[in-house]
Amino acid sequence: MNLAVFVSGKGSNLNAILNAPELKGIASVKGVFSDKKECGAFQIANEFSIPIFSISSIEKEGYISYSKLPELLNSLDIELIVLAGFLKLVPEAIVKQYRHRIINIHPALLPSFGGKGMYGMNVHKAVFESSAKVSGATIHFVDEEYDKGKIIAQQCVSIADAVSPDEIAVRVLEVEHQLLPAVIKKLAENKISIINDRVITIN
Ligand code: GRF
Repeated sequence: MNLAVFVSGKGSNLNAILNAPELKGIASVKGVFSDKKECGAFQIANEFSIPIFSISSIEKEGYISYSKLPELLNSLDIELIVLAGFLKLVPEAIVKQYRHRIINIHPALLPSFGGKGMYGMNVHKAVFESSAKVSGATIHFVDEEYDKGKIIAQQCVSIADAVSPDEIAVRVLEVEHQLLPAVIKKLAENKISIINDRVITIN
């Protein structure tokens, strides 16, 4: 299965995908797309000799505008788009073109602690302040709204004894790095489907 990975940050989830033994031979990253040229994820892509693409919602020198994305994704034969720390809304045309073929990883247990502005440490601070005893990672299909698409998989981690948002972030990221490759594998094997409006995974 050919993947496009959309990023904005340091790229630890991209790294987890690229190094996942279970994805060898079944999923291949054909391009890494970012709205931020200086992100760590681009460096990782370079180390793996994966083409990188800077993208922008507006016409800007040195960037590929969103209007060119459908054609570019087609030319790369992309079958699944993975949002791994991409902070922008995916353009509607892409959501339509790739309905149920775009997934996002969110660093909390949706539908709590999601939505616009809930990214990075904002999420972990809100979780910490709520005094929640578990947090975790959620992978969901992407639709037109932030963090609203149907949930594919979740993995939780105890944070009952966490003393700071930073500590929660570390625990959740570890879970993310396991869950994301596992879900991509299931999608590549066609073991995830939507039945009666619910996302079902076959073991
Ligand atoms: C992760 O916590 C992910 O859940 C969120 O953004 C962060 C990206 O981290 N959407 P990285 O760039 O993969 O290290």
